[in-house]
Amino acid sequence: MGSDLVQINTSPNVQPEEVRVGGEPLFSDDAVRGKTFYIETFGCAMNVHDSEKVAGTLMSRGYRPVETHQEADLIFYNTCSIREKAAEKVFSRLGVLKKAHRNGSKIIGVLGCVAQQEGEEIFERAPQVSLVCGSASYTRLPDLLEQVEAGNRRVTGLELDTEDCFETEFTRRDNPFRAYMTIIEGCDQRCAFCVVPMTRGPERSRPSERILADCRRLVDEGYTEIQLLGQIVNAWQDSSPERLSFAELLARIAETRGVRRVRFATSHPRYFTPDIVEAIESHPALCDQIHLPVQSGSTDVLARMLRGYSREQYLEKIDCIRRSRRAISISTDIIVGFCGETRQDFEQTMTLLDAVEYDQIFSFKYSVRPNTAGAGYEDSVPEDEKGRWLAELQEHQRQIQLRRNQALLGQEFEVLVDSYQPRLGQAVGRTTSNRVLNFPGAAEWIGHYMKVRVTGAGPNSLVGVRADQNTGADGFTHPRISNPA
Ligand code: 5AD
Repeated sequence: MGSDLVQINTSPNVQPEEVRVGGEPLFSDDAVRGKTFYIETFGCAMNVHDSEKVAGTLMSRGYRPVETHQEADLIFYNTCSIREKAAEKVFSRLGVLKKAHRNGSKIIGVLGCVAQQEGEEIFERAPQVSLVCGSASYTRLPDLLEQVEAGNRRVTGLELDTEDCFETEFTRRDNPFRAYMTIIEGCDQRCAFCVVPMTRGPERSRPSERILADCRRLVDEGYTEIQLLGQIVNAWQDSSPERLSFAELLARIAETRGVRRVRFATSHPRYFTPDIVEAIESHPALCDQIHLPVQSGSTDVLARMLRGYSREQYLEKIDCIRRSRRAISISTDIIVGFCGETRQDFEQTMTLLDAVEYDQIFSFKYSVRPNTAGAGYEDSVPEDEKGRWLAELQEHQRQIQLRRNQALLGQEFEVLVDSYQPRLGQAVGRTTSNRVLNFPGAAEWIGHYMKVRVTGAGPNSLVGVRADQNTGADGFTHPRISNPA
């Protein structure tokens, strides 16, 4: 996903009772009783969701979440290694911990992509760490935790070659109305810049039967928006007897009673087919939003990146989306300064922005990653040049977004209210196209769907006013809060 700069602390807010495993922790024994944990998550939505599952697993064993590492007996970092800076972050965190917890009474674990990439080296660099576990080994987590609880100080889960997805009934979701759900894990592409196949293992899809059963359960638990996750979500393949296509799966999820919104990310252009657009067209619950990373607007650079499509082929996919009866918003990921990229190549990316008119982009300077094809090429674009190109690209996109958002003035959209900013008295909602819309509101509106009219537009968000207020018998306006179900 493009949101890999997000950094989320996944331990707060939820009391142990809220885990839906029914009353008492299942496996609590004396080693664990009363123990607390703290997880900090770096990186993409898949990492955030993995942490929700790790937290659920810990709580099922009797651990209780706390808000700071100072209070915790067990500290986990769920890490990201997509770029060098992200990967280094965990070592700076571990450095802080080393000073803060000299007596070694805490259990410290490194999970996720850095764990997989660095492996046992982490014990050398940070001897205070006692668990190193990559995402392909999470199914073994209960067993690994048992070893850690027994006092073992060098526990590893580093096997990569798995056919399993991280299936667990214990998921402590952070958001009470929007649920992440993984449908496919790993990646079989070999894009020249990307470390993911080496950190998350081979592609493996969950069967549609299980996905649809999970959807029904999520609705029963009160969730109305479902976000399907996968490194390449549209490479999903069904091993259930029904053999649904990805577009059919989307339709079936959208038809599930009680599901109001479905999003999915991240799609790869290579697997992006017109039936996905048709499914969105015919199912209002499928959000009018597609994230389709292009990476570069230059066919030469795309070839060196091993992306498997040209600029023209990508633009054909965009055309197919733009021809839809629904105004589908499109976002993308872009890398600037890949090996051998020239100013002319970069300008091709700039003109692609005009050709597509994205609603949002996530853009990055190329960062060499170990064990990738790119690591064998010369990282030819100087760092300051990459920085200048990135700024130029972002400024150009800012203008495009401003223009596109301003065109929405006066229109009404349904938003799902995400949060409330008490200082401003503003509710923050998201439209189906994933635009942020701020409007005067109340904290109780969180989790509800409301109609809002757009009265102002900036490049990154909109402002508006409620468009579905009732006037009560007392002459005051009362918000009509729609039932989220
Ligand atoms: N350098 C810079 N950006 C990268 N991405 C992936 N690998 C790298 C790298 N080595 C970006 C891509 C991807 C997004 C999640 O991160 O744009 O789509």
